[in-house]
Amino acid sequence: MVVAAGSGSRFGGPKHDLTIGGVPLWQRCCDVFRAVGIETVVVVGDVPGGIAGGERRRDSVLAGVEAVPDAEWVLIHDAARPMVTVDLVDRLLAAAIPNDVDGAIPGLKVTDTVKRVQRDRVVETVDRSDLVAVQTPQIFRRSVLLEAHRSAPGLDATDDAGLVELIGGTVAVAAGDPSNIKITYPDDLARAKAIDEERSEEP
Ligand code: CTP
Ligand code: MG
Repeated sequence: MVVAAGSGSRFGGPKHDLTIGGVPLWQRCCDVFRAVGIETVVVVGDVPGGIAGGERRRDSVLAGVEAVPDAEWVLIHDAARPMVTVDLVDRLLAAAIPNDVDGAIPGLKVTDTVKRVQRDRVVETVDRSDLVAVQTPQIFRRSVLLEAHRSAPGLDATDDAGLVELIGGTVAVAAGDPSNIKITYPDDLARAKAIDEERSEEP
């Protein structure tokens, strides 16, 4: 599923009508998932053929999960990451489906030095050796994801793995893709367009 609802408050307005190369962000994501061979692709949000989204991201995800009652695995992706690739999805599927895990997520090693701060004062430097920055798509066994959603209805988790972790689910980490950026602020759209142009220049 591609989640494309929300208000885009940091962007300065909803993101569901944005395009790259003339193609809406959510549509680009759907095209990648169809190319991978995913059986059913649903979009959540105010787009043609979309399912109504919810107040919080997790509510939109739940609407999408409920739309595919027979799926064994569900793959959840932010329309705000339109530079997702077939290779990344393939890595993720390989990390989850053949293995004895409840899900898999893409992670990138943190290369910046990370510090814990309070107001404008440094409290400590965090050991980054075991830290990863996490992206979407994220894949889970549908039954486990539903149980995770039910277990903590009040928590406004920013990703689905966070909920699955809370119920003790096992989540594998696959190598993320640095070019799979998220469009959060207006400048991110320009970066995504530049990545798109670089890719179209590749032989
Ligand atoms: N999303 C959603 N439903 C919501 C909130 C977010 O489907 N209620 C989706 C967005 O469309 C986006 C992804 O979740 O593809 C990640 O959300 P984010 O980038 O945070 O988008 P917004 O929540 O719209 O933006 P902001 O947090 O800046 O308000
Ligand atoms: Mg948000």
